[in-house]
Parts: sequence; structure tokens; C-alpha cells
Amino acid sequence: MMPTRPEPSCAGENEPISLPEGCVDVWICRVADSDDTETQARCRQAMSAEERTKQAAFHFAKDRLRYLLTRGLARYALSRYLPLPPESWRFQSNAYGRPVIGNAPRDARWLTFNLSHTDEIIAMAIGRHLALGVDIERAHADAPLSIADSFFAKAEARQLRDLPDSLRSRRFYELWTLKECYVKAKGAGLSIPLDKFSFDLDRTDEVGIRFDPALADAPSRWLFWQWHLSPDHIAALCVERPAERACRVRQWQSVPFRHYCEVPFQTERASAAASRPRSDSGSACALSALAHQETGQ
Ligand SMILES: CC(C)(COP(=O)(O)OP(=O)(O)OC[C@H]1O[C@@H](n2cnc3c(N)ncnc32)[C@H](O)[C@@H]1OP(=O)(O)O)[C@@H](O)C(=O)NCCC(=O)NCCS
Repeated sequence: MMPTRPEPSCAGENEPISLPEGCVDVWICRVADSDDTETQARCRQAMSAEERTKQAAFHFAKDRLRYLLTRGLARYALSRYLPLPPESWRFQSNAYGRPVIGNAPRDARWLTFNLSHTDEIIAMAIGRHLALGVDIERAHADAPLSIADSFFAKAEARQLRDLPDSLRSRRFYELWTLKECYVKAKGAGLSIPLDKFSFDLDRTDEVGIRFDPALADAPSRWLFWQWHLSPDHIAALCVERPAERACRVRQWQSVPFRHYCEVPFQTERASAAASRPRSDSGSACALSALAHQETGQ
């Protein structure tokens, strides 16, 4: 008999979420689950006029849909943490293009977020005062390995060359998503030279990072997790290590404006200091997490 997976506990459309200090929430929206006219209409209603203009300008329908659902997910998810309507959020970009909350009322200033999208899956990380970055990539069999030779740290390029052909593409995307989530957590994108920090993935379940002194950064400042969202989708999360606290990651799967469910966060690799959720810890805390509307700092 096939083992039965426990049903995730789902919250209704407008249930609030409490985000404890040191906790990071990762929201996942699967495009195929959200590709219906009602969801799209709700996302469109929530967008600003500027976002609607930008969305209409995409040439391909898949890009228009991805943009629409990304805006919908961001607005819907943020409104779970504070009693502000999804359409009321205003965003502005930093000098490197990172969107941040622009109209933050005093009680919204603790919310930090970051987004990543592929054609099939959109991911959003949300934290409390913490710098964070998320990256998701669809791993192709023929990764652009020349990027590693030209832009990655020498140790990473060597690591890739030493692998058997069959493992090289996957390792490229594992390194790429980790590098991207770090530069996104820093908010500076690709202005940070990718060869000035390097990941050591030789131990199969651990993420180690080294910095060139030029970056003036320290491995102890950051926590990393890596996991799969489908057999081909690799995700990585970088979170500024909370002072004197463990950092716990929860994962929510959502159809924007319809529902969200806590699903198990099963990391495959993480920093030695990062908490590793047990594989059965999925929905246990879902209902307690829904209990309170967050208004504090
Ligand atoms: C923009 C960048 C930060 C991430 O780009 P990416 O991996 O292509 O795209 P992702 O889907 O992961 O992330 C895009 C989101 O990151 C956010 N973002 C943009 N600039 C950012 C920055 N400086 N810091 C943090 N987040 C940023 C935005 O929310 C953006 O989505 P939006 O425009 O819909 O709001 C940057 O690193 C970049 O340009 N990367 C190039 C990617 C590339 O060349 N890939 C090919 C190799 S596989």
C-alpha cells in the first residue's frame, strides 16, 4: 500500500500569520496551480497602475503571467503579517534594483522580503528585521558551465571540473543559487563579484562559505539552506544570522488570494549553524502560527 502523506493544514484566504523573532517564512506559488481567471483578476486588482503598465509590456504571455502572480503573491503574503490591504503596499527599489516596502508605516518597518521566480515557481522569503535573499532556478541538463570558469571563484570552478560529467550541471545550479541568494541578501545583486566568495559543497549536507578579505564579510554572519521545489527546481535561502537566536524556516504554499498551507520545509543542505527541520515537522505549527495578527515591532 502506498504510504499516505498527511494533508497540509490550509488557512483561509485572509487568515493572519504571526512571524516570531528569528523565524523566516518562505512562500511558494506554483504557476500551474494559480493559472485561473479569478486568481489572475484578484492579482490584477491588487497591482498599482505602474505595475499594470509594466505587466502589459511583456511580450510573452508566460512573462505577463509570472509578473502578475509575483506581484499578487507579494501583496497577498505581506498582508498576512499586517492588517493592510494588498493593494495598499507601495514598493521602491534600492540603487541595485532590489524592491523594498516604500510606504512602510511604523508598524511595517520590521518586514523584510525578497523574491525569485522561474516560469513555473515563484518564491518569496519574509523575515523580521533580517537581511535575506532567496533564489530559485530550473536546473537544465546543459548548464552554462563557462560562467563558472569566467566568474566563479577558482575553487568552485575546480570543484565543478573535478566532478563526473553527469553531476556537473546540477552542481552548477547548486552553486549558482547559493551565490545569488547571498548577493540578493546583501541587496547589491551582481555588483558583488562572484569570484570574491566561494561555497564548499564537498560535504553533501552542509554549506560552507569563504570570503575574500576584499568583501569584509564573515561566514558567521550568514545562514544558508538549499532544497528542491521539484526534481528540477533548486532553491537557496540566505539569512542574516539573528543575534543570539536560532533561525527557523517555515514554508507556505499558496494560491494568492485563495489560500495558503504550511508544507514541510525539507532542506537538503544547510550551514552548520542553521536549524534543520525534521522531515515530519511540516504542518504541526501551522494552526498556532495563524493565531495572532502581527502588529508589534
Ligand atoms: C537581479 C538579480 C539580483 C537576480 O536575478 P535573477 O536570478 O535573474 O532573478 P530572480 O528571479 O532570482 O530574482 C529577481 C527578483 O529579485 C529581486 N531583486 C532585483 N534586484 C535585486 C537586488 N539587487 N537585490 C536583491 N533582490 C533583487 C526583484 O524582486 C526581482 O524580481 P522582480 O523584478 O519581479 O521584483 C541579479 O543577481 C541578476 O541580474 N542576475 C542575473 C541572472 C543570470 O544571469 N542568470 C543566468 C545564469 S543561470
